[in-house]
Amino acid sequence: MSTTPKTSASADPGRLPVTLPRLAEKKRLREAIVMVTAYDFPGGQVADAAGADVVLVGDSAAEVVLGHDSTVAVSVEEMLMLSAATRRGVRSALLVADLPFGSYEVSDEQAIATAQRFVKEARADAVKLEGGGAAQLSRIRAIVGAGIPVMGHVGLTPQTATALGGRRAQGRTAGRALALAAQARAVEAAGAFAIVLEAIPAAVAAAITPLLEIPVIGIGAGPDTDGQVLVLHDMLGIYPGRAPRFAKQYVELRSQMIAAIGEYADDVRARRFPAAEHTFSIDPRELDEFLAELVGNV
Ligand code: KIV
Repeated sequence: MSTTPKTSASADPGRLPVTLPRLAEKKRLREAIVMVTAYDFPGGQVADAAGADVVLVGDSAAEVVLGHDSTVAVSVEEMLMLSAATRRGVRSALLVADLPFGSYEVSDEQAIATAQRFVKEARADAVKLEGGGAAQLSRIRAIVGAGIPVMGHVGLTPQTATALGGRRAQGRTAGRALALAAQARAVEAAGAFAIVLEAIPAAVAAAITPLLEIPVIGIGAGPDTDGQVLVLHDMLGIYPGRAPRFAKQYVELRSQMIAAIGEYADDVRARRFPAAEHTFSIDPRELDEFLAELVGNV
């Protein structure tokens, strides 16, 4: 492990911070917005260095980092810890933290208090919450009213997937697509600065996107949204066969990680590691003195 001090590293150190007006401008100029999840310091660093516009500390952490089988299991404390670590790696991208299940549903006051923790303790720039019903719209208005930017999320909302009949595509009938469009508009009207559309037909997302002034970020929503988001671990291929079909895997890191650890294990067993360059030395006279004393005293 490196002993050099840890600082945020960006591929473009001159890159300006991504602000909410900059994201709005990207939509106006039809420049695609790049969003990716990250859950820790190195993840935040590489996402930022790769030039992501938005880094989301998603509650997908429950599954991809903590090994649960659903996003509902992650706690506020866990998300705060992961968000704060990611923050230390992100210099330019806008950092959005997901409000976990159970941390904002009870009341507007609960939602404001939780959102404030993510800003104060984890230094998130904004928070994201799922849903476009009356209660969630009230939460969005309340958090925005407290001065904290909110990203919405409709379509497949994993926190309430059971109520949606499972993790399946949404908005696949005219009536359901219309209801989704209405939810998206309501989320915008409630004050969200952007919205995620998850797992909806591409043609439905293409029709909703120009109806909204705020940026629309798609995942499993086709190519015509204003931007895209992917879960880091799906993109990097860290799991065997876990990724949903709408996720693109850019590299298969799992086998590379196993091969690297296997090589290390072989080196240790064959006593090839550590080599001279991994080893500290001691002045021979100090060593002689140490050995002489050791034999006499221990
Ligand atoms: O938790 C998450 O990673 C998300 C993205 C899939 C948008 O909400």
